[in-house]
Amino acid sequence: MIVGVVGAGTMGRGIAQIAATVGCEVFLYDKSEEALENAQNSLTKILDRLIEKGKFTETVAKEIIERITFSTSLSDFSQANFVIEAIIEDLNIKKDLFSELETIVSDDCILATNTSSLSVAALGAACKNAERFIGVHFFNPAPLMPLVEIIPAISTSEEILIRTKEIIDSWKKVTVIAKDTPGFIVNRVARPFYGEALRIYEEGIADFATIDAAMTEVGGFKMGPFTLMDYIGNDINYAVTETVFKAFYYDPRYKPSFTQRRHVEAQWLGKKSGRGYYDYSDNAKKTESSAGDDLKAYILNRILVLLFNEAIDAVFWNVATKEDIDLAMTKGVNYPKGLLEWADEYGLSRIHNQIEELQRLYGEDRYRPSPLLKQLVKNNQKIYQN
Ligand SMILES: NC(=O)c1ccc[n+]([C@@H]2O[C@H](COP(=O)([O-])OP(=O)(O)OC[C@H]3O[C@@H](n4cnc5c(N)ncnc54)[C@H](O)[C@@H]3O)[C@@H](O)[C@H]2O)c1
Repeated sequence: MIVGVVGAGTMGRGIAQIAATVGCEVFLYDKSEEALENAQNSLTKILDRLIEKGKFTETVAKEIIERITFSTSLSDFSQANFVIEAIIEDLNIKKDLFSELETIVSDDCILATNTSSLSVAALGAACKNAERFIGVHFFNPAPLMPLVEIIPAISTSEEILIRTKEIIDSWKKVTVIAKDTPGFIVNRVARPFYGEALRIYEEGIADFATIDAAMTEVGGFKMGPFTLMDYIGNDINYAVTETVFKAFYYDPRYKPSFTQRRHVEAQWLGKKSGRGYYDYSDNAKKTESSAGDDLKAYILNRILVLLFNEAIDAVFWNVATKEDIDLAMTKGVNYPKGLLEWADEYGLSRIHNQIEELQRLYGEDRYRPSPLLKQLVKNNQKIYQN
């Protein structure tokens, strides 16, 4: 199998590593020679570390890196069976790339985009043959995160969906199929993890450290929302929130926050800039939470019920199957449990009551139970019926 990867940044180099590790011949192209050089150096370092850890022998690592051609010309892609694009998140730049690619690749080559937030249908429209165009959304860091969302557009053929899923499954990834709707599964369902945490902070209910502690110590999440936003980068996380908000025709459930916007404007981007919600300088004092258990339980429950509602609403709108939604949240963002399974355990009427309570208090459409949640509660049913 010959794989072409366009864009040798964070995602492209990770995808190239995955494909080369499973034995594909890979062409990794970037318009910037510096990016290609950086990718080559970083992949060599990663493989060296994997040798030290005993994951590969030196010979195997050498074979992996030798399977990657760091390419300065797209014409190398003429032999490719499968091309994944991972360049800048800009609709027109991506469309130009796909129009050009189509003149180079063979007729049966699959064209895929790793976009996080653009419409797959809109990108596919740049191709003369939109049937062979599909979304494959990896998570960062791609070699470590098991999940890949596969997103057929309305124009994608069934055969291309099946072939793409087979390829990514053979790369030992966990695949889920998502509808071509804003944020696909993970970036849609996870919005309240950030948005409600920011809102709780803005209302003065708790500080960053307390909200993080509630989610990690009590909720069992690997990282709290503020630590995670600092890790992702506030610029990136804010951009995703804003895109999803606009793409949902300004649904207040996805409204971005001033606090995060100010952090971006101040260049307090998180770990990468040394300062975000927390201070990452060498002699910075670690911020600890001194809040009591009741406050932490309130915070956890408030964020959790909105996450449950979002996951249930994604089922209602046929974004994906229940099983795929649960897999996506555990394998793509490391949630301690699938949200739908967890919602059943938590109790659907309890979730419904808590959301209605928030709606009564605030009078905002942001807090509205999903129609599916209402139906299930009314019929005394669970999401997963045994
Ligand atoms: N970073 C993440 O966490 C993440 C996760 C999932 C998906 N994505 C998506 O993956 C894509 C890439 O993101 P990234 O974080 O790797 O970006 P990045 O900025 O690290 O890398 C992008 C690379 O694309 C190159 N590039 C830009 N325009 C190009 C063109 N016209 N032709 C060839 N190369 C070009 C740049 O030189 C750069 O090296 C985006 O669509 C993003 O939304 C990112």
